[in-house]
Amino acid sequence: MNDLQKKISQIGVVPVIKLKNPQQDAAPLSDALCAGGVCVAEITFRAAGAPEAMRIMTQRHPEMIVGAGTVLTTEQVDQTIAAGGQFVVTPGLDIEIVKYCQEKGITVFPGCTTPTDYHAAYRLGLEVLKFFPAEQSGGLAKIKAMSAPFPMFKVMPTGGVNLKNLPEYAASPIIAACGGSYMCPDKLIEAGEWDQITDLCKKSVEIVKEARK
Ligand code: 3PG
Repeated sequence: MNDLQKKISQIGVVPVIKLKNPQQDAAPLSDALCAGGVCVAEITFRAAGAPEAMRIMTQRHPEMIVGAGTVLTTEQVDQTIAAGGQFVVTPGLDIEIVKYCQEKGITVFPGCTTPTDYHAAYRLGLEVLKFFPAEQSGGLAKIKAMSAPFPMFKVMPTGGVNLKNLPEYAASPIIAACGGSYMCPDKLIEAGEWDQITDLCKKSVEIVKEARK
């Protein structure tokens, strides 16, 4: 793992965020996450203002690890770098995007769930993969099965992770960190319920700490 991946792994969870109104919500959301001990954010390109949100968060909290999610093109990689983003997450394994990120020196977590994906990721020299969609693809049982032929990888399961199943995922040594939108649901963002988001972050960090004991 590189230094950035180690830092993300130490935090243990990565909130997956779709921000419709970054001008209004990015700053208070970054405050809420960092107050909850989760000073990391995956801002997805599912909403148009992702670069703006990354820029606002990075400027407000220079210590925060901000990256992009749902990256589908190399242009979005460029936008991420220009916005100060430090990592790229893609839903699937796109060799062109992975190589482009490697050329540009930005950490990339491609979504992988099959032996074919893992094999390609191995050939690309990757060490940490997003395992997506985690629950729908077989969850921890599949992650463990995949680890037999591919023990060199740590994974970041995302998709269906929540406070209930987080303890089980976090306890596995194969898991680098768990991703999920459950820490920043649309409803809480729209209602400006920042304290509740801080609370969800604190609970998540606590669960990870307990699970890793
Ligand atoms: C992602 O983009 O990583 C997932 O959609 C997040 O999945 P979740 O909403 O089930 O946490």
